[in-house]
Amino acid sequence: MPQHHRSVPELFRQLWTFLRPFRWKLFGLWLIAMLSIPLNMLTPLPLTIAVDSIIGSRPLPAWLRALAPAFLQSDTAALLTLVLAGYIGVALAAQLQGLALWRISSYVGERMIFAFRGRLFEHLQHICASYHDQQGPMDSVYRLQHDAASVKQIPIDAVIPFMRALCMLLGLGLLMLVIDWQFALVALGMLPVLFVLTRQCGRRLRATWSEVKSTESATIACAQEVLGASRIVKAFGRETHEHRRFLGHAENWVRTHNSLASVGSGFDFLFGMAVACGTAVALVVGLGHVKSGRLSMGDFLLLMAYMAQLAGPLDMATKKMAELQSCLVGFRRALAILDIPPVIADRPEARPLARARGGVVFKGVSFAYPGSAPVLRSVSFAVPPGTKVGIMGTSGAGKSTLLNLLTRFADPDDGAILLDGVDLRDYRLTDLRRQFAIVPQDPILFSTTIGENIRYGNLEATQAEIEAAARAAHAHAFIRQRPLGYDTPVGERGARLSGGERQRIALARAFLRDAPIVILDEPTSALDARTEADLIEVLEELTRGRTTFLITHRPGTLKACDIQLVLKQGRVSLHALDLDQPTPPTVLEPVTV
Ligand SMILES: Nc1ncnc2c1ncn2[C@@H]1O[C@H](COP(=O)(O)OP(=O)(O)OP(=O)(O)O)[C@@H](O)[C@H]1O
Ligand SMILES: [Mg+2]
Repeated sequence: MPQHHRSVPELFRQLWTFLRPFRWKLFGLWLIAMLSIPLNMLTPLPLTIAVDSIIGSRPLPAWLRALAPAFLQSDTAALLTLVLAGYIGVALAAQLQGLALWRISSYVGERMIFAFRGRLFEHLQHICASYHDQQGPMDSVYRLQHDAASVKQIPIDAVIPFMRALCMLLGLGLLMLVIDWQFALVALGMLPVLFVLTRQCGRRLRATWSEVKSTESATIACAQEVLGASRIVKAFGRETHEHRRFLGHAENWVRTHNSLASVGSGFDFLFGMAVACGTAVALVVGLGHVKSGRLSMGDFLLLMAYMAQLAGPLDMATKKMAELQSCLVGFRRALAILDIPPVIADRPEARPLARARGGVVFKGVSFAYPGSAPVLRSVSFAVPPGTKVGIMGTSGAGKSTLLNLLTRFADPDDGAILLDGVDLRDYRLTDLRRQFAIVPQDPILFSTTIGENIRYGNLEATQAEIEAAARAAHAHAFIRQRPLGYDTPVGERGARLSGGERQRIALARAFLRDAPIVILDEPTSALDARTEADLIEVLEELTRGRTTFLITHRPGTLKACDIQLVLKQGRVSLHALDLDQPTPPTVLEPVTV
């Protein structure tokens, strides 16, 4: 996976491009979150009044004298009721605020993840198939599943609470300054220390989180691979070997989590100690002021309550800071998906294609997989519409690769492939892919029912059409034998069917497709001679009037073809099948480059 190293401001800039559509909702959320600040500041006030004016004999604060009716102020019992009502009122408002915050942030947050995840999934579908072949799907799945949630966690679980904590600090600081400026200065003096501490630890936390996430992803990928291939593992008796391999990954997981815990807890410890020292000094100053009469007992209690509240947002800010590091790493990993270029993409002026006639020309096509020797070297040939081409060649000669180029799973490094005289790259990709019905070498089915797998060829097909396709592919009989018939689940990737059954379902799927070009990569390799013989007739039907490319090692299957294309050391030669010698140039003239 490409890892562009994005700085933190760059990450936030990118995040904003995803959050823009949600900006008003986020603003509303921020406002609700901010409501907690005045509510928190009001919470200790009833206690101050009770201590100073009910237990003690201090007059009520001026603002309360102005607000409360006179008869309440002279009667102690009435005053107590007023204080209690104030206490309950503030608590109720705080609870309602918490409730609204929780529900709205969950709603908005899940919508944001939904949108971001959808965007990532769309991109993953458009990147080159060989990327998934190379990387395996698990890492992408982990990023989609876990890392994508960072798009919500950063703003809602980290930034908004962080900003609220900062505003709270500011508000409390101002209030404390008004009540006793010396006390306030001591209390706020610890802020710069905490800031430096937070910054230092942030870097280390981010690096450790990055390691944690990749070890987690590797462990899960290992488990998925081993469990997915459990038959092979058992057949080769490699359970212990795989167990050791899994434990190796899991060991790394433990190690990175431990180093995360040691960085995190060390930070927590230093932070907690800094806050305790600050509070101790402020306590000494406050007590001195109470003794000298500069501060009332009630105000002292109020200041200490604010001091405790100061520790709350500070603590929150640091916890959120640690969480933010993890989210930033997650977001960076999720963004890395979008950095993978969609190798095969439409040209800006790509042309539409309703239905091709099916004339295919390879013009000096060369191709090599990245980092490997060339598979095809300047391959040239022409196939008129409706021709059936049998492709032969030793294993690894490049037969499947040739057809992957034709279906644009990759583009040639050199030369061009023309369909009806137009370069494949000039067509819209979705239109181009509609022109092919493909039966791949290793047919993969989806873990749904047999019927749904056949319907994949044409989502609009009726049950009758599905059954007709299955009949044509000689699959109907075995499907009907199952108690659930077409509703039989096929298991993960079709594992509950035999190789030959899978192949026939893949053929039925291709039948339903009704495309002008048919591509069959060893469609009968898993079938017995009898079924194969039956199917050759069926293939006649499937391929009538369509350009067909049929890879096969079986001479019997080749009979259905008009011409034969032989691949050898990256080059091709064409033969008319019955003559087994170079085709007359009038019919198939290899294109000279
Ligand atoms: N994704 C890939 N990355 C790198 N090399 C690949 C990839 N796919 C195939 N190859 C290599 O390219 C060569 C041609 O492979 P290809 O699958 O086209 O062979 P084939 O003729 O279809 O063989 P077979 O008859 O065994 O199916 C082989 O040497 C193979 O190892
Ligand atoms: Mg092949």
